[in-house]
Amino acid sequence: MGYRVAVVGATGNVGREMLAILEDVNFPVDEIYAVASRNSIGVEVNYADKRIYCQAIDDFDFSKVDVVLMSVSGAFSKEWSPKIGKQGPIVIDNSSAWRMDPDVPLIVPEVNPDDASLARRKNIIANPNCSTAQLVVALKPLHDAAKIKRVVVSTYQSVSGAGKAGVDELWDQTKAVFTLGPTEPKKFPKQIAFNVIPFIGSFNDDGYTDEEAKMWNETHKMIDPAIKLTVTCVRVPVFVGHSESVNIEFETPLDEDEAREILRDAPGVLVVDKRDDKGYITPKEAQGEFAVYVSRIRNDHSAPNCLNMWVVSDNLRKGAALNAVQIAQLLHERGMLERAHA
Ligand SMILES: NC(=O)c1ccc[n+]([C@@H]2O[C@H](COP(=O)([O-])OP(=O)(O)OC[C@H]3O[C@@H](n4cnc5c(N)ncnc54)[C@H](OP(=O)(O)O)[C@@H]3O)[C@@H](O)[C@H]2O)c1
Repeated sequence: MGYRVAVVGATGNVGREMLAILEDVNFPVDEIYAVASRNSIGVEVNYADKRIYCQAIDDFDFSKVDVVLMSVSGAFSKEWSPKIGKQGPIVIDNSSAWRMDPDVPLIVPEVNPDDASLARRKNIIANPNCSTAQLVVALKPLHDAAKIKRVVVSTYQSVSGAGKAGVDELWDQTKAVFTLGPTEPKKFPKQIAFNVIPFIGSFNDDGYTDEEAKMWNETHKMIDPAIKLTVTCVRVPVFVGHSESVNIEFETPLDEDEAREILRDAPGVLVVDKRDDKGYITPKEAQGEFAVYVSRIRNDHSAPNCLNMWVVSDNLRKGAALNAVQIAQLLHERGMLERAHA
């Protein structure tokens, strides 16, 4: 017996990936519904070999589904996820709205699967920010081995992390540069084509951005509040795939060979780390893949017990849609996704 699943935000970057991944992983689906805004009523999306037509959220009866994969803005989720949860289904939410709520588990299945036991408190489970998701998959096995003291991260985040509008802006600006057309920024604060922008989200009072704060807050909630983490988030002109340069300081010694071995055995991680042109992964190669790739693992010669590494993943997959579907699989495996109205 399968489940009745609704994908909310089904026309978006993440929503479309969710529909594809539900099929890829053979999640047991009996009925599937695509939900979006009023503007998308009747818009066709694909699931397996079927076409499904979007319904407006205001008209949709959520009591007839068991699980909702939610991929809309934080403000929208804040309003809708509790209303949907009260009708019975578990909402697996991709926005930032619920991540730090103490009654909402924030889950990456490879990292803290047992937190799923809190799912029925509000019938909401949060997915982390895309940059945090891939980072914690790589950090957790190393933390278990040698206790991480401090992490210094620089991100190289693709435009699809900013939704459909971000992808369109890079596409349009790139064409405009060649045809001498207008390149005024709309979605991003500065031109993104042929440029990099050291700013994502909005500024906090301390000069960091909310995107940067999400990375340490979420790492603390999922792995260990004692880990000190500092980060600079940068938007780069890449369509899909986030990259991260990561420096880690451990409490006890852990060298590059030991780290490589630990990561080779870690769930969700693929180590590609040879010292030749094919021995590391770029976002282009990670696009459409499930793994978190770790490359360029090196001892840091400037400080004891420190390593550098390069972490790359498809932000629409492990950073969002795949993680959400893996959470649904986790609930299924633990018998927590009983049909709300059998
Ligand atoms: N992209 C990533 O890498 C990533 C990673 C992690 C988390 N997230 C989060 O996931 C969420 C979605 O991101 P995205 O990249 O998929 O955005 P997106 O491509 O802009 O898609 C947004 C979706 O929300 C729907 N929506 C907007 N207003 C709505 C309304 N009033 N009622 C119902 N549906 C509405 C849109 O439907 P219409 O087409 O009908 O407007 C569309 O399906 C965001 O909270 C984002 O922060 C994204």
